[in-house]
Amino acid sequence: MKALVLAGGTGSRLRPITHTGAKQLVPVANKPILFYVIETLVDAGITDIGMIVGATEEEIRATVGDGGDFGAKVTYIPQDRPLGLAHAVLVARDYLAEDDFVMFLGDNFVVGGINGLVREFEAERPDAAIMLTRVKDPSDYGVAVLDTQGQVVRLEEKPRNPVSDLAVIGVYLFTTAVHQAVRAISPSARGELEITDAIQWLIDQGHAVRSTVIGNYWKDTGSVSELLEVNRAVLETLEPGVDGTVDKESELIGRVRVEPGATVSRSRIVGPAVIGAGTKVTGSYIGPWTSVDRDCVITASEIEYSIVLAGSSVEGVGRIESSLIGKEVRITRSAGPCRTHRLIVGDHSKVQITPLSHSPEPLT
Ligand code: DAU
Repeated sequence: MKALVLAGGTGSRLRPITHTGAKQLVPVANKPILFYVIETLVDAGITDIGMIVGATEEEIRATVGDGGDFGAKVTYIPQDRPLGLAHAVLVARDYLAEDDFVMFLGDNFVVGGINGLVREFEAERPDAAIMLTRVKDPSDYGVAVLDTQGQVVRLEEKPRNPVSDLAVIGVYLFTTAVHQAVRAISPSARGELEITDAIQWLIDQGHAVRSTVIGNYWKDTGSVSELLEVNRAVLETLEPGVDGTVDKESELIGRVRVEPGATVSRSRIVGPAVIGAGTKVTGSYIGPWTSVDRDCVITASEIEYSIVLAGSSVEGVGRIESSLIGKEVRITRSAGPCRTHRLIVGDHSKVQITPLSHSPEPLT
């Protein structure tokens, strides 16, 4: 069995972070999401991985390499434009050859792995197997309708008025039957070749499509709130330990990992939290569910339930919460007598500021 990992696309919902980088490389607990995907596949015994890449190909190649570090063999498959998940299968036709394969969306996160699903597929070999989970907001996903026997009868991509709350998870298993399906379908209203339509085609043609409803933790990490939630869940399983330096005036509480070369001085860190290699935390409070990546500087500040990417500094600011701070960002206290906010914020950024206590009443 092979794997097809989708690491192309644009990542518009994670802008501005994804203006300059691949969304699949945004770190969770200081490790790119895509690494968890590859590890999940290798753990299920699948080491032959085709990686669909688009505009961010170079960055993904540089980070993942040939897959050797994971015990896998990664073959890169360029997709000129993100024309849909089924289009990615078309593009990978030669690579996939006559093998069964698991298609794994590079921004999906399945806690608990996919071993059970893969073994079941190998034993029963339906033409397609999908995983479903109940969600609050089905219109953001592919949605499945099951009959009374639990068989999938209908699939709809991001329906405006969903008839079920069962979302299709971004992990699919296929035999070669899918190749005919992806050739048979036409682009959807949003101009993409949808994998949901290809699976619907298989159902309509009488092919066997299995579904499993999972209760395991699953997340699409496409938005900031989802990303913070996945970060929280992964940090809950963090192996605590200090490989850096923590001075006597600091206090580490709960699951805290201080990576090599990191220094923590006169600070309080309440886990689960990770402080990346080479990062300096001084006179600060780092609260639960926070990942600070490598080479950051956190001074006289408070951060909780947040992700800070590599090379950023936060100095002399009050409590930051529920935030995603990009790479090489500077957040400091403004100098000078006026209590003003001074912002240099890139396109598609989002800033929420607590009004200063002496702010004038809004004009009416
Ligand atoms: O996360 C589960 C959902 O994933 C399913 O419920 C939906 O049925 C499925 O269509 C998909 O929806 P998304 O809107 O979340 O897909 P997105 O465009 O975010 O793409 C998923 C991954 O595939 C992402 O890592 C980018 C990559 N991709 C996407 C497209 C459209 C490609 O590599 N090539 C593409 O052409």
